Amino acid sequence: MKTSMPKLLVARAMFPDVLAQLSNFFELELNQEDRIFSQSELAERLQGKFGMICTSSAKVDQDLLSKLSGVKIISTIAVGYDNFDLHACTQHGVMATNSPDVLNETTADFAWALMMATARRVTEAEHFLRAGLWTKWSVDFFVGADLHGSCLGILGMGRIGQAIARRASGFGMEVIYHNRSQLSEEKELAAHHARYVDKQTLLRHADHLILALPYSPEVHHIIGAIELAQMKPSATLINIARGGIVDDAALIQALRNGQIAGAGLDVFENEPRFHADFLGLKNVVLTPHIASATERTRRAMVNRAVKNVISAVRGELPPDLLNP
Ligand code: DGY
Repeated sequence: MKTSMPKLLVARAMFPDVLAQLSNFFELELNQEDRIFSQSELAERLQGKFGMICTSSAKVDQDLLSKLSGVKIISTIAVGYDNFDLHACTQHGVMATNSPDVLNETTADFAWALMMATARRVTEAEHFLRAGLWTKWSVDFFVGADLHGSCLGILGMGRIGQAIARRASGFGMEVIYHNRSQLSEEKELAAHHARYVDKQTLLRHADHLILALPYSPEVHHIIGAIELAQMKPSATLINIARGGIVDDAALIQALRNGQIAGAGLDVFENEPRFHADFLGLKNVVLTPHIASATERTRRAMVNRAVKNVISAVRGELPPDLLNP
């Protein structure tokens, strides 16, 4: 019975109970040691498969897809799908799905954690204490920037951006945003009366600027030397979106020269590699792409990815289909 089941590549380590659920529908090929496959290994492992559950580390492009046949669905455990060439997926008859919505609130929480840690120099102060350097209290000791009463800027006002904005009400912050298009009045109201501004106004006025936009080649290095120069010297920049949005070399210069006060970065271009010069800077908080990392949310993201492949094998339209 099991031999006639369609085959599924679960390209990353997976919760055992989820594997048990999937094995009711698929013959599984696993990667419980959680290796990152090279493109050629990925192509090899996808031979004869109905589909794959993967993460942002799997690059699904024309080159990979041209080596495959019979693959019906690629399901990523992520809201961002910049690792997928959707046009190529459609050309090759492959359904691409993501796992949106369930991570909005958790990711927004983390954006705030990073903003607070950056503005109030939490990690820098902790390193100081751990290094045994604390000898006295002084009036200018680790002074940072206030969040309350300040202006929060958000670039990218999708579902995560709006969840970030809602949290500003507890801090009495003004919220301004820039987005491809202005939100409806109703949505702006719900997002703590967020006010739509042009990009330049956003850069100039924000005391804390959070990047929450999806990556695409059009926004590659959209925050570079010119944009950083427009920000306030007291401002912080927080990136929970994708590394390629920020020009890291320019950001390092801006942090070194005091052009902005600090940065909180959860994502990096070419991660898990990152620019080594960040390590020499005290005014940057660095985390390894963990904004959606809570037990409940990661489970919810996985469940969505699973639901998508099960729908596909049942001949139904996956709920999170990206290329209908
Ligand atoms: C997402 O969901 O896009 C997160 O960044 C994890 O890749």
